[in-house]
Amino acid sequence: MSERPMRAVTIKEFGGPEVLTHEEITRPKPLPTEVLVRVHAAGINPVDWKTRAGQGMAGLQTMPLVLGWDVSGVVEEVGFGVTTLAPGDEVYAMPWFPRPAGAYAEYVTAPSRHFARKPASIGHVEAAALPLAALTAWQALVDTAHVQAGQRVLVHAAAGGVGHLAVQFAKHLGAEVVATAREHRHAWLKELGADELIDYTRQRFEDVTGHVDVVIDLVGALDDTDVRSVSVTRPGGLVVAIPDGVPERLATVAGQAGVRTSPFLVEPDSAALTTIAGLVDSGKVRIEVERTFALEEAAEAHRLGETNRTRGKLVLTVSD
Ligand SMILES: NC(=O)c1ccc[n+]([C@@H]2O[C@H](COP(=O)([O-])OP(=O)(O)OC[C@H]3O[C@@H](n4cnc5c(N)ncnc54)[C@H](OP(=O)(O)O)[C@@H]3O)[C@@H](O)[C@H]2O)c1
Repeated sequence: MSERPMRAVTIKEFGGPEVLTHEEITRPKPLPTEVLVRVHAAGINPVDWKTRAGQGMAGLQTMPLVLGWDVSGVVEEVGFGVTTLAPGDEVYAMPWFPRPAGAYAEYVTAPSRHFARKPASIGHVEAAALPLAALTAWQALVDTAHVQAGQRVLVHAAAGGVGHLAVQFAKHLGAEVVATAREHRHAWLKELGADELIDYTRQRFEDVTGHVDVVIDLVGALDDTDVRSVSVTRPGGLVVAIPDGVPERLATVAGQAGVRTSPFLVEPDSAALTTIAGLVDSGKVRIEVERTFALEEAAEAHRLGETNRTRGKLVLTVSD
């Protein structure tokens, strides 16, 4: 079959939001075991703009690059060997991460088993907001920290994409949830299940938080949040250091206090996405989308995301 074009947002060099260019490129074809998915919406994550700027996963990418890892869409075609999905199926995923997935485009191809069935109760925009953020929150709480009912969990940056899902998952696991966010986010985060809220702009969290078992740190080195988190963690407890890994200073202070630390990098995980879809469809978990942008407005979406003030998620709408 001859090559067919598709709309995409590409970058040819690392840089500011202006390097994001809307153009036509060749539509990919699925290899054996892969599916071709028509993208309805693509979620935006901080790793997108970090990578665009030459940080994040930049070292693993080649130019020209189509950014984006979060996809919700419909299976258009299946490659040889795919028996669990068929054309017409509604799916969502964070395929390929940390290799390029090319979600800022009309079509993506990826191994069929990177995908899960999209939650039936929400649209593609909300579903596209979930994968990377929800997998991060889920894998950090469940697979890394093994959070148990009755434990106290501190979530930093609770109002963001990962944070608002971590609050809900931690609550679902039976934890008592302490969360940091600006005051105007508190009522919403209480509705989502946070038990205690701390306005980090007015109080040092370590002055008002009792001991916790687990810290889901989504802020990292900014304001020394990672190192300061050690002082609120009980000996033997765990700080999951999500944005910046475990720098030497954090390792040293934690070691002296008998607190464990863990670096973290989210992984594709269709089994977890199926579990998360179940939580969404049963009404136990809500996904918050602050704003959508058309595909060609990707640069504007990055500019807004980089202000670090997003409530929930930003999403690109790609096709109807
Ligand atoms: N390692 C991994 O696999 C992985 C995976 C996902 C994300 N991450 C990283 O984790 C971080 C969070 O990701 P995200 O998608 O949740 O980001 P996001 O949605 O852009 O987070 C924005 C939120 O951060 C809050 N915030 C900013 N500074 C804060 C501070 N000092 N204390 C408390 N809250 C603060 C803001 O809330 P207020 O309005 O209340 O200030 C805002 O709602 C990013 O650095 C991202 O790159 C890493």
